[in-house]
Amino acid sequence: MRSSTSATVTVPGDSTVPSASTAAQQPTVSVSGLRKMFRRRDGETVPAVDSISLDVKSGEFVVLLGPSGCGKSTLLRCIAGLEQPDSGVIKLHGRTSFSSAESVDLPPEKRRLGMMFQTYALWPHMSVFDNVAYPLRARRTPRPEVERRVQHVLDLVGISELRRQYSGQMSGGQQQRVALARALVSNEGLILFDEPLSNVDAKVRELLRREIIKMQQEIGFTAIYVTHDQTEAMEMADRIAVMERGRIAQIGAPREIYERPVSRYVGRFIGTTNELAGRVTQIVDSETVRVATDLGDVFAARGDDGVKVGAEVVMLARPESCRLEPRSDTADDTVNTWDVTVTKSMFLGMHTEHLVRLQGRRSTSSCARIRTEGCGRLETACAFASDAATCER
Ligand SMILES: Nc1ncnc2c1ncn2[C@@H]1O[C@H](COP(=O)(O)OP(=O)(O)O)[C@@H](O)[C@H]1O
Ligand SMILES: [Mg+2]
Repeated sequence: MRSSTSATVTVPGDSTVPSASTAAQQPTVSVSGLRKMFRRRDGETVPAVDSISLDVKSGEFVVLLGPSGCGKSTLLRCIAGLEQPDSGVIKLHGRTSFSSAESVDLPPEKRRLGMMFQTYALWPHMSVFDNVAYPLRARRTPRPEVERRVQHVLDLVGISELRRQYSGQMSGGQQQRVALARALVSNEGLILFDEPLSNVDAKVRELLRREIIKMQQEIGFTAIYVTHDQTEAMEMADRIAVMERGRIAQIGAPREIYERPVSRYVGRFIGTTNELAGRVTQIVDSETVRVATDLGDVFAARGDDGVKVGAEVVMLARPESCRLEPRSDTADDTVNTWDVTVTKSMFLGMHTEHLVRLQGRRSTSSCARIRTEGCGRLETACAFASDAATCER
């Protein structure tokens, strides 16, 4: 998770980029009511993007996260102008780039953005310099300025010694650096990333991820970054938009999504969760509800939507927010506490993870995963997290 960014280094300027004060007033990206259907071979239509609205502020790093096929790339490609939406509005830098009602559809090169894809999309027979210079030459930028700007970004991404090499002869990590330099060179203030690191090996991926973050903090560009990797999302994002079948299931800071998932889908997608279903029987106070479950009554956080009595809910508790204690230390009537049997303990270095079986009052049982520092003991009592988040089933 990251703190907000500040702009300290600039890439040589482009006079068409709005000044910082204008940019601060309006979101860099504003998508509303966007829809894109695809027709499959069998004739069935798939809503790849289903009524999505999303604002991305200037300098913000938003990650689109979700499983394969949930519509991340389609949304990004619609924003880039590579895919034509069926309906909705896309404004970039305050300018309408697509509007179904107004019949506006700017081509990609007029949308003022940089792109970096999973496949490097470099020309193998061109030198690194020529690859990076391409977007500038396409816009007939004067030669001395091309030289100056390309050299500057090659220095920034640390590949100036490769400028004469052919991109086809380089490693995956080096090619992605070239692709990053090309995305940065136009200095449009907005970069779209579509799983840019999924083709490089784990070590290089981690390194490049950090460098993209550093670059973004230094230059201050706005980013929309697609990934299916939750660690990558947590590490890079100011906000994460978790996508589910063409829709945004939840959008928020990484911590908010992790601690207060709005649905079982979001809770499961980010991190490991213990789930317990039940029915709300009492609103204890503004923050707490009592939920009747097969394992007896549980007290849980009421959640942002403020569930009502009678609601069928599921409670989600993270393994690290549950506790394991020796049985003798815990009084029988303590809330959110059960006798458990530890069925397996796995030492994982920083912590130990225990699989436990909880015993309910009516001879029901349930399994949970609990994380402790150090080594847990067998024959213990388990406290189901008192801050378990309640959400829709
Ligand atoms: N060109 C296309 N033709 C038909 N269906 C497509 C096309 N592109 C994407 N889809 C479908 O749209 C849905 C979303 O795809 P995509 O945006 O690529 O998902 P993601 O990037 O999250 O993996 C999927 O069901 C996919 O099969
Ligand atoms: Mg994709």
